[in-house]
Amino acid sequence: MSQPDVMDKLVSLCKRRGFIFQSSEIYGGTGSVWDYGPLGVELKKNLKDLWWRAMVRMRDDIEGIDAAILMHPRVWEASGHVAGFVDPLVDCKACKGRFRADKLEDAQCPQKPSKHPGEHTACQLTEARQFNLMFKTYMGPLEETASVVYLRPETAQGIFVNFLNVQQSTRQKVPFGIAQIGKAFRNEITPGNFTFRTREFEQMEMQFFVEPGTDEEHFEYWKDARMKWHHSLGLSPDRLRYKAHEQLAHYARAAFDIEFDFGGTLGFQEIEGIHNRTDFDLGRHQEYSGKKLEYFDQPANKRYVPYVIETSVGADRVTLAALVNAYREEEVPGESEGRVVLGLHPSLAPIKAAVFALTKKEGMPEMAHRIAGELRRHFPVDYDETGSIGKRYRRQDEVGTPFCITVDGESVKDGTVTVRDRDTLAQDRISADAVRAYLSERVPG
Ligand code: GAP
Repeated sequence: MSQPDVMDKLVSLCKRRGFIFQSSEIYGGTGSVWDYGPLGVELKKNLKDLWWRAMVRMRDDIEGIDAAILMHPRVWEASGHVAGFVDPLVDCKACKGRFRADKLEDAQCPQKPSKHPGEHTACQLTEARQFNLMFKTYMGPLEETASVVYLRPETAQGIFVNFLNVQQSTRQKVPFGIAQIGKAFRNEITPGNFTFRTREFEQMEMQFFVEPGTDEEHFEYWKDARMKWHHSLGLSPDRLRYKAHEQLAHYARAAFDIEFDFGGTLGFQEIEGIHNRTDFDLGRHQEYSGKKLEYFDQPANKRYVPYVIETSVGADRVTLAALVNAYREEEVPGESEGRVVLGLHPSLAPIKAAVFALTKKEGMPEMAHRIAGELRRHFPVDYDETGSIGKRYRRQDEVGTPFCITVDGESVKDGTVTVRDRDTLAQDRISADAVRAYLSERVPG
């Protein structure tokens, strides 16, 4: 069954509630670049923290790094990006549209959307030309060829060039991995679908260095482990699937994508790639830098260039998947108005609990402030005393807050509060002193 298209509704919710804004909006916006607002930055940070925890903190065989965006230009010659990171581009002289020549069947003719570019009688497509997706800039005050540098199109190369630095400084033994989270930039020809394909985005990449010959078993392990991680975020298993690459990238021996069903016409799309990169990258960096990048296996008394199993996931794309997965509109029993809910997994929710004073009288705000202040030391918490209680619940439902704590007339008398569950709408009355423990049990850290 195809999933509904919620993208337009999400774009509007994200702007209205401060998740995601168009970059430089007051100037008319920057093409396919987005800014994360107060709630969006918390959501994406939670996602990145969960990845870092699973991939680095919880494992003794993976080390983290944070490499610079600007790298030596030779890196991109060695990696194959200068020569090969290109898309074929065609222009239409009639409508001035620009399309990927190899994806015309996915595009619409702007003058006749029922047809693909080239199919309408007015279309005048140019010959395809190769367009490199890397952003170029200049290092130093002179704009000359010698000072050209690139904004990295993937974070992976920062890991490859640091392979020996990390291995030697940590004394890790193969098999082991290096992980990092960071910005990447691609001058995409056809960006779009909100934050799905943008020109500036964040990747969470891990390169696992293994002995040649053991690569296939490691590949299977990571394929399985990464799918489980997506399940742990609460993404519906029936919206996730593997897709084997039909065409392998220049560096890959095997490659699978994990795809998520974004609904509507976008449907299943890649959110993560798992690649067997062989010794391609380390081999090429050896060749281009003239420095040995071999691993010495002491017990076996042998040297080799390790193979690499890569897991590469987009932080923005999974954030979008989590939002799409979480968005629902539903009836509320006994109420005439329905509600919009972001059923985010509690570990992803930007606000874990909201504290309300039922009215601004009888010491309720003071007690509610006290509870919010205490909880804030442990969780991101919101305080709200404006509007009807129903409206306040709806505002929190719409941004995915799993619990709402209300201080009412009874609270000031007996020290209890109500805790309302976002999904079941059930309300528990518990002692105000027990709220922190109640949340700790239900909101994974
Ligand atoms: N190092 C391998 C690599 O970069 P990729 O399949 O090109 O592989 C990995 O990218 C992930 O990065 C994708 O699965 C996607 O989640 C994210 N990604 C790639 N291009 C993107 C773009 N233009 N906008 C947002 N995310 C992108």
